[in-house]
Amino acid sequence: MGIKFNEENCSFNLTSDNMSYIIKIHDLGYPVHLYWGRRLDHFNLDNMLTYRERCSFSPNPDPNNLLLSLDDLPQEYPSYGGSDFRMPAFVFKHNDGTTRTELKYDSHLIYEGKSKLDGLPATYIENKSEATTLELLLVDSLKDIHVTLIYTVYANRNVVCRSVKVENKSDVEMRIEQALSMSIDFDSDQFDLMHLQGSWARERHVERHRLFTGTQGIQSRRGSSSHQHNPFVSLLTPQTNESQGEAYGFSLVYSGNFIAQAEVDQYHTTRVSMGINPFEFKWKLGTDEVFQTPECVMVYSSNGVGDLSRTYHKLFRERLARGLHRDSERPILMNNWEATYFDFNEKSIVDLARRGAELGVELFVLDDGWFGSRNGDKSGLGDWVVNTEKLPRGLDYLAQTVNDMDMKFGLWFEPEMVSPDSDLYRNHPDWCLHIPNRSRTEGRHQLVLDFSRQDVCVYITGMIKNILSSTNIEYVKWDMNRNMTEVASSLLDSERQSETMHRYMLGLYAVLEDITTSYPNILFESCSGGGGRFDPGMLYYMPQTWTSDNTDAVERLKIQYGTSMVYPLISMGAHVSEVPNHQVGRRTSLKMRGDVAMTGNFGYELDLTKISDTDKEIMKHQVISYKERRQLIQFGDMYRIRSPFDGNECAWMVVSEDKCEAVVSFYQIMSRFNGHIDRLKLEGLDGNKNYKIMETGMCLSGKELLNFGIRIQEQVGDYQSQVWHLKAVKNKVV
Ligand code: DGJ
Repeated sequence: MGIKFNEENCSFNLTSDNMSYIIKIHDLGYPVHLYWGRRLDHFNLDNMLTYRERCSFSPNPDPNNLLLSLDDLPQEYPSYGGSDFRMPAFVFKHNDGTTRTELKYDSHLIYEGKSKLDGLPATYIENKSEATTLELLLVDSLKDIHVTLIYTVYANRNVVCRSVKVENKSDVEMRIEQALSMSIDFDSDQFDLMHLQGSWARERHVERHRLFTGTQGIQSRRGSSSHQHNPFVSLLTPQTNESQGEAYGFSLVYSGNFIAQAEVDQYHTTRVSMGINPFEFKWKLGTDEVFQTPECVMVYSSNGVGDLSRTYHKLFRERLARGLHRDSERPILMNNWEATYFDFNEKSIVDLARRGAELGVELFVLDDGWFGSRNGDKSGLGDWVVNTEKLPRGLDYLAQTVNDMDMKFGLWFEPEMVSPDSDLYRNHPDWCLHIPNRSRTEGRHQLVLDFSRQDVCVYITGMIKNILSSTNIEYVKWDMNRNMTEVASSLLDSERQSETMHRYMLGLYAVLEDITTSYPNILFESCSGGGGRFDPGMLYYMPQTWTSDNTDAVERLKIQYGTSMVYPLISMGAHVSEVPNHQVGRRTSLKMRGDVAMTGNFGYELDLTKISDTDKEIMKHQVISYKERRQLIQFGDMYRIRSPFDGNECAWMVVSEDKCEAVVSFYQIMSRFNGHIDRLKLEGLDGNKNYKIMETGMCLSGKELLNFGIRIQEQVGDYQSQVWHLKAVKNKVV
């Protein structure tokens, strides 16, 4: 395990327990990609790297070697301007206006551990022996540009983390036009591309299609990772399913504009690349200045998409999320948003909290509307002082009252925004993203504060800290409710305007670092109109995210199923809300709403003062059973059994690491009249163990559950769910 350099043939083998990633430095200095797949300890480079003479339309960097063209050489970090006409990873504008960069191997460094990325979130290690890093220095000797390709492999995870550092070693200023985080060439086009698409309240729907010749991909130009496309793509061989086949995942640890592309070329190769979206991005690089790209987390699995997801889940849970709450069970929360919206006062909030406490809820969250003149969505953002008309005795009284009910108190913020109708805006109209003399496009009646400016970040940080230090706040929901328009900053000169979006992200990350580390006891949850910024960048600072503003149980099946492609269950906020559902108007049973929400980070978001005694009893029971199994759900291994994208049913299960316990959930959307007698083949269990189904008392062998499955009882009526809790038992099964 680790990284081996073979001096004789100039190759690097990056290995984990079950994976190898092989790079060779070509005689002409280009880093060539040779292999990424199951672990290989021995290989023959003559077998791996073969050449073929192409036509004059794929020119040759060495006139004496017609077998070599960059146009079909599998590369690690292709730059623009030479004989490779595929998508470049790197485009540089030199001070003479030319754009050709020739990046050739200069030297390398291999070390135990993993370095931090300056100013950016990234996966990390706790112990040097967990990972090994290769830094490959490539140099354009004519222009003195140094580009370092950084690769980290974890010993026990099938993961390669890649990022790139660009340094201007010349004495003139230059400009980065594009610096992606990674690029990789596969010598085949036999792949499907899978990605997660959506919109507000319909996030992360799974889409999968065969690659066609040409470029295809996803991107965000919205100033955030977005509801529309998650910064994740996967290449799957066409036969790959949940439990079999090869899968390659690419996930960008970044919350701003990104691009992820796959290009199938004339020679049937596939190039995948990912990074900051070059659209409206440019970066001036002065002498000795350094630019660091975000990290791309690349995962390989030879055991299907399910295994790919579990690798992401574990890595993101253990080595991306940070802080005191990373390994602790998350509290069941009650949020007042769908219960009251902006229409609340101290009494109604206390009443609601009391109802939550009666159910056994552990955290009460006061959402939007507690500050400034915030009586609706038209005003108040930016004025982070308590609204004493609604809360005359302030937050301290409220927090204390909630604490007296044996619950923690949590608060909502939307720090990156400003309402034109606010004191902040009246005092600092230039503090938002805007272009002088152009109209300022509003979204939900709000503008985006210019977080590329340090003075803005300092001011907002101060205001938030004032509130957080004023009383016992133990949870924060950090919201962000619109995308960016008129992206420009009044402090940047004309040549740097296209740096604004990335500078915004760096500013935001610095604020998040400061606030989250200053209040280590606070549990932070990120949100962007639900899941508009459900990305690894935010997870680094905040270990959980509000998955979607859509709380309908049926819609949530697809949203949570899609989200689980990359993100662990513990990171997915999932609440039981009212029926008819506020977003889609559907009526589902309280049982189904609970069964869906209980496979995430569980909570309630409805007016508990209006529920019937029967519902109250059901909820009490839900709270008890979630507390019993939350360790398993939040920290176990998830297996997807049936996809809601394939039809009327959905099923998934979570198995404890020691395989002694599991929870299986099955959901049926529409009633199936006179349907077949169905069964669910389970996964992830230990075939040599026996399991008791706690609901029925039936004992079955692991082998039977894995091979025959568990019978699904016929259910009458739409929107049904069944949940089985399995525990390993010593009983002999006959
Ligand atoms: C959008 C969030 O997703 C909701 O949960 C809620 O917090 C509202 N914003 C409040 O304005």
